[in-house]
Amino acid sequence: MQTLHVELGDRRYPIFIGSDLDSQQLLAPYISGKQVMVVTNTTVAPLYLEHYLDALTALGKVVSTCVLPDGEQYKNIEHLNLIFDALLSAGFNRDCTVLALGGGVIGDMAGFAAACFQRGVYFVQVPTTLLSQVDSSVGGKTGINHPLGKNMIGAFQQPQVVLADMSHLKTLPKRELSAGLAEIIKYALLGDTEFLVWLEQHMEKLLAGDPILLAEAVYRSCAHKARIVASDEKEQGERALLNLGHTFGHAIESYLGYGNWLHGEAVATGMVMAADLSERMGWISTVDLDRVKKIIQSADLPIVCPKIPLDEFLAYMAHDKKVLNGQLRLVLLKQLGQATIGSDFDVESMHQAILANQQ
Ligand code: NAD
Ligand code: GLY
Repeated sequence: MQTLHVELGDRRYPIFIGSDLDSQQLLAPYISGKQVMVVTNTTVAPLYLEHYLDALTALGKVVSTCVLPDGEQYKNIEHLNLIFDALLSAGFNRDCTVLALGGGVIGDMAGFAAACFQRGVYFVQVPTTLLSQVDSSVGGKTGINHPLGKNMIGAFQQPQVVLADMSHLKTLPKRELSAGLAEIIKYALLGDTEFLVWLEQHMEKLLAGDPILLAEAVYRSCAHKARIVASDEKEQGERALLNLGHTFGHAIESYLGYGNWLHGEAVATGMVMAADLSERMGWISTVDLDRVKKIIQSADLPIVCPKIPLDEFLAYMAHDKKVLNGQLRLVLLKQLGQATIGSDFDVESMHQAILANQQ
C-alpha cells in the first residue's frame, strides 16, 4: 500500500492506494461520530456494499445506506434530495459521516450532500472507478448537473480520507477503465513528460488491468493532483490546469446528453482539440499533436466526436466555469508537459480545432 497526503493544514487528509486494502483498519481513525450513511448505486451495491457494511459495523458504527440509480443522468437535484431524505429519516446528526462508495457520480453527489446537510458533515471517499480514484475523489469538488450545464451547482467539501482499492477495478467495464486512463493521460500532458513516456511504455498492461501498474498510475496521478490542490484549493490559479480538455469535453458531453458519452471519453477528445489548437498557435509541433492522439487512441479512447453544430458547441463552451468577465479561457499546451490557461488564443483557430476533430 502507498500513502499520499493532501496538505491542507488542519484539513490534511490521506489517500491510501493499494489492493485488498484493510478498510476497517484504514477507516477507523477517520470516522469520529457514530452514524455513517453509505451512499452508493444499484451497480456498486451488490459488488462492494456488504464488505463496507461489515467493516463499519465491526467498528461499532450505526450504518444506513442510500442506494441511488446508476448514471450521470441522475446526478441532479431530485436524486440529491434522496440522500437528504435518507439522512433525515434515519435521524442523522451533525457528527455523522457520509461515505461515498462508487464512481465520480456517487462521489460528487454524496460529497455535495455532506457539504449541505446541516451546513456540513464529515465525508469519506471510497472511489471504485479508475476515474474517481485518480481525479474526482481527491480535491473536494462536489456537485450536481443542471439541464443547462454540467457540475454547475456544487461546493468544495474535502474528504477525511480516500481509499483507492485496485481490487475494485476488477469488475469495472473496459470502457470505464479507458475513461479513467483519459484523466491519467491528462496529468502527463499537462505537467509530466516522464510520466507520458511511462504511460506510452505501459499502456497495454494498464488496459489489461494490471493492478500493480494501475496502482502506480493512480499514485502518480494523485501525487500531481494533491500537490496542485494543496497550493490552490479553490481554483484561483494553477488548479484550473487540471481542466485540460474539459471545456471542449463538457460541450461534447452536454450536447450528446449526460451519460451517452462517458466523461473520460469526452475529455479525451477535448484534449485532442486543445492540443490541436495549441499546434495551430505554433506552441506544440505536429509531431507532439500526433503523440497526443496516439496515446489517447492507445487507451481505446476516441480522438474525434460526433458532428456537433459549431454554434451549439460554442454555446455549451460559454457555460464553462472558467469563463471570466464573459471571456472564455482555455487550458492549452505551451509545450508537451506544460499547460497554460488564458484567452490568448485565436478564435478562428479554435473553431478549426473543434471542426477538425469531429466525425
Ligand atoms: P460513474 O460514477 O458513472 O461510474 C461509471 C460506471 O461504473 C457506473 O455505471 C458505475 O455504477 C460503475 N461502477 C463503479 N464502480 C464500479 C466497479 N468497481 N465495478 C463495476 N462497475 C462500477 O463515472 P466516473 O467515470 O467514475 O465519474 C464521472 C463523474 O465524475 C462525472 O459526473 C464527472 O463530472 C465527475 N468528475 C468529478 C471530478 C471532481 O473533481 N469532483 C473530477 C472528474 C470527474
Ligand atoms: N477535476 C478537476 C479538479 O478537480 O480541479
